[in-house]
Amino acid sequence: MTKEEQYRELLERVTSYIDGETCEMSVLANASALLHEAMAPRYFWTGFYVVDGEELVLGPFQGPAACYRIRLGRGVCGTAWKDKCTLVVPDVEEFPGHIACSSLSRSEIVVPLCDSQGTVKAVLDIDSRELAAFDETDAQWLEEIAAAIAKTIY
Ligand code: SME
Repeated sequence: MTKEEQYRELLERVTSYIDGETCEMSVLANASALLHEAMAPRYFWTGFYVVDGEELVLGPFQGPAACYRIRLGRGVCGTAWKDKCTLVVPDVEEFPGHIACSSLSRSEIVVPLCDSQGTVKAVLDIDSRELAAFDETDAQWLEEIAAAIAKTIY
């Protein structure tokens, strides 16, 4: 299966699984499980940080334990939140201020989830143990998946 085909199937699976459920934590929990299961072992850590005032707080995830809180503009997640855009980081050591929750993470992608007003409510964060594991195809599909999740719960 190509990466495109994998993502197409994943989008359908996530959409049908979360359909009709409005509990944020339940939907994010199942979404992290579905994404991680479908993409393992390429995905090493798959999860969500949720906006809580001026910080992001750790939400549902799959993978090793991670840091609880990230301030606006800090690390990859806080920067994606502040700039309201997807960030593809081919080498985390090259990203100024990267927050290393696991020394095994080498590359990362972060995609914001926005409500209907365009306000960021959460971010999807995926880490890989490989350098440059994520490209434009990952970004496009993960943005679509993130938008489907956001539409359901925000
Ligand atoms: N690396 C992230 C922190 C979260 S962990 O990757 C799970 C960052 O720099 O924001």
